[in-house]
Amino acid sequence: MIQSVRGTKDLLPGEIEKWQQLENVIRDVTKRYGYREIRTPIFEKTEVFSRSIGENTDIVNKEMYTFTDKGDESITLRPEKTAALVRSVIQNNLTHDISSLRLWYFGPFFRYERPQKGRLRQFHQFGAECIGSPNAEADAEIILLANQLINNLGIKDYTLQLNSLGNEKSRADYRQELVNYLSSHKDELSHESQTRLETNPLRVLDSKEEKDKLIITDAPVIIDFLDDESKKHFDKVRNLLNITGVKYHLEPRLVRGLDYYCHTVFEFRSSALGAQDAFGGGGRYDGLFEQLGGKPTPAVGFAMGIERLILILEALGIMQEATGDCDIYLICTSDSIYDNALTIAEQLRASGYKVYSDLQRRSFKAQMREADKLSAKYCVIIGEDEISKNSVKIKNMSTGEQADIKQDLLQTISFR
Ligand code: HAM
Repeated sequence: MIQSVRGTKDLLPGEIEKWQQLENVIRDVTKRYGYREIRTPIFEKTEVFSRSIGENTDIVNKEMYTFTDKGDESITLRPEKTAALVRSVIQNNLTHDISSLRLWYFGPFFRYERPQKGRLRQFHQFGAECIGSPNAEADAEIILLANQLINNLGIKDYTLQLNSLGNEKSRADYRQELVNYLSSHKDELSHESQTRLETNPLRVLDSKEEKDKLIITDAPVIIDFLDDESKKHFDKVRNLLNITGVKYHLEPRLVRGLDYYCHTVFEFRSSALGAQDAFGGGGRYDGLFEQLGGKPTPAVGFAMGIERLILILEALGIMQEATGDCDIYLICTSDSIYDNALTIAEQLRASGYKVYSDLQRRSFKAQMREADKLSAKYCVIIGEDEISKNSVKIKNMSTGEQADIKQDLLQTISFR
């Protein structure tokens, strides 16, 4: 038997209904904030991601599904959306006549990571991006939108971690200081962190190795290197979160795994998840448009992992496995009248009811059993007898009551 690819997951009936509920909440919340949906291709030219996420990040270095197509072009299955979305906004000139562009998306993404609970190779993200404003109100709006979604889903037990990476100058000053500090402890660092010290020193702060953690505890923190402009922006963001009642923890070592961030960065974490406890993250990326060949355009956004959100909702008992939804089970007791039965089923469906009928020509008893299994509210029973009288039998499945009614009166009955 052929198995699915490691790190991918089939979404089966029963589970898919949970996704649909989640998607409904996403549509509702994004609409309230004035965000409009955007869909872009699943694959892009590789440079869209390598030029933006950063050559020395785990995503670009180790995790991208990259291949050369038959036209000798290097193509990558998108590992995230922000870079692809910026490519699309530039290409389609979407910022042309709108000062703040608000966009959201939902779809599959691909990263070659080691699969474990909450970590897949094909996973899904919902995200929102606010493009065109350099002001703290945009950062706050994005965090408020994410927060509103989490609250509307009923998730209470989570933390929002917040940090600022400042502007380019602050980051350069900090980077130098961090490199000085880490270099003085180089021999005590793990092999991976020693490599990162050369290629992408900020990423050392993300290390999960115990020996690295000891050194990281005393490392300088970026917040102490923010210049006046960066400090002012961050203070304003924090102030807006305070006055809107959003709770957050300052996490001075939060750096995120993508290189395009500046100023505000944040992550949502939940103890209902295992080691992979971040179910969402984002930040400001004012330099990305230029990096991808566009005009300087400030922007801020976030993305959430759908599989991780579902895990949280299941752990909290908020979303249960759904069964099929059936208003009417149509039982046909004679082989000769299946065509009449089908016509009646069609009329009921046209009236808006969810109608199941038997396709296996099973016995009356077996059809009744299936109606029970589907938790049908009503059975409409049709046999030779009923057809000869131009009627049908209706059974209320919760009270057991039965009644015969004329077929042409079926439209007047409420089955809800
Ligand atoms: P990210 O932190 O790489 O950010 O991903 C966002 C979320 O996607 C994570 O918090 C996690 O829930 C989920 N996720 C990531 N990788 C996996 C995986 N292998 N399996 C399951 N879930 C996963 C970004 O992607 C940025 N583009 C977010 C952003 C938008 N920043 C600004 N705008």
